[in-house]
Amino acid sequence: LDFRTIIAKRRSGEAHEERELRMLAQGAADGSIPDYQLAAWLMAAVLRPLTTQETAWLTVAMAESGQRLDLTGLPQPCLDKHSTGGVGDKTTIVLLPLLAACGVTVVKMSGRGLGITGGTVDKLESVPGFRMDLSPAELLAQASRFGLAITGPTAELAPADRALYALRDATGTVASVPLIVSSILSKKLAGGAKNLVLDVKCGSGGFMPTFDAARELAQALRQTGELCGLKVRVALTDMTQPLGRAVGNALEVEEAFEVLSGEAGGRQRQAAQLQAEGGKPAAGRAASPSDGVEIAREAIARGHALHKAEEWFVAQGASGSRGSWGLPRARLQTEIPLAGEGGWIARLDPRAVGEAAVLLGAGRKTKTDAVLPAAGIECLAEVGDEVRPGHKLFRIHAETEEAAQAAQERLAEAVGVHSERVPPPPLILETF
Ligand code: URA
Repeated sequence: LDFRTIIAKRRSGEAHEERELRMLAQGAADGSIPDYQLAAWLMAAVLRPLTTQETAWLTVAMAESGQRLDLTGLPQPCLDKHSTGGVGDKTTIVLLPLLAACGVTVVKMSGRGLGITGGTVDKLESVPGFRMDLSPAELLAQASRFGLAITGPTAELAPADRALYALRDATGTVASVPLIVSSILSKKLAGGAKNLVLDVKCGSGGFMPTFDAARELAQALRQTGELCGLKVRVALTDMTQPLGRAVGNALEVEEAFEVLSGEAGGRQRQAAQLQAEGGKPAAGRAASPSDGVEIAREAIARGHALHKAEEWFVAQGASGSRGSWGLPRARLQTEIPLAGEGGWIARLDPRAVGEAAVLLGAGRKTKTDAVLPAAGIECLAEVGDEVRPGHKLFRIHAETEEAAQAAQERLAEAVGVHSERVPPPPLILETF
């Protein structure tokens, strides 16, 4: 098999055979196909998108290009979740203990943040001692004892994706639904997932800005996932404003615990309950979705979710309990009031808020930047809220005056106020 033939087939839109996509994934992982040939194939694949069957073959081949976790020995059901990422999205930190408290085992691999969307690794590493470098053996042992475990990205799982993603990033070939789908799902398959809840965010604070684009990705994830033997539940959710109050690593951990303890409600809690609702039927526990959400609500109300979260944090290296983990606090806190006339918040642009958080050091501009764990923004109003002049809109957490000033200037562009009542946008756009 000559890889030049495979490139030519893609270029002319001829169907690939499974073995051709296996060769591609293996060659990307072991370096036997040179980057220039892979890049040529990737560009051809953007212009002539893979079919669902081809995407599924590529996904499985990428998952099999490295080590695979075997979760079959863990207490069942097991569930994995994935979000396409959004500003202020700390759902993983709420959902994992919530599901574990409901008897669902969760083993998850998460990534670091890049650009305006934060990453779960950075959020949890803001807790002193919290380890995001568990080995596969540690991951399985902890999940077996406590029902949940999380770790950061590892080079051993789906190495083909690592190689192909770096090339896509460098060659303008990220934006292809089949390539995105195979990238996301190959990592899930390699992590041993059988049941998956997916949150596809829609709006300027996420990866897919429009409803149609988000829906296309969601449907492709579901269809391809099923061809790969995964049970998939998908939610399309709003990302036209930040999710919840906090944006920034330690601040988001704090908010996650407020949700778990029942102190905070709002959209962040609704998002976690939605995922729990989607996950339980997928994992075969609840008889109907409404059972799932009711069980999740009870786990919060009875304190089981909070207890599980505290157990989880200690198991992964944090010491003490909630309130005594020594979450860092930024040197400066500044509240930003509404400058103009009152009315109803009509726009709270998550992209602008995310960019302001990056200016504070809460996120990365490039992969190698360090993040400041305590930096970030609290959004003190949401779209649809009535606000009067002087109403506090944001609380900035900054390490320097200069960073606070830069963030404040960016945040001034984030808010739009309307003189007439504005309905809050629905959080859940569609589930299937
Ligand atoms: N996230 C991934 O893991 N892969 C992509 O291709 C895009 C987003």
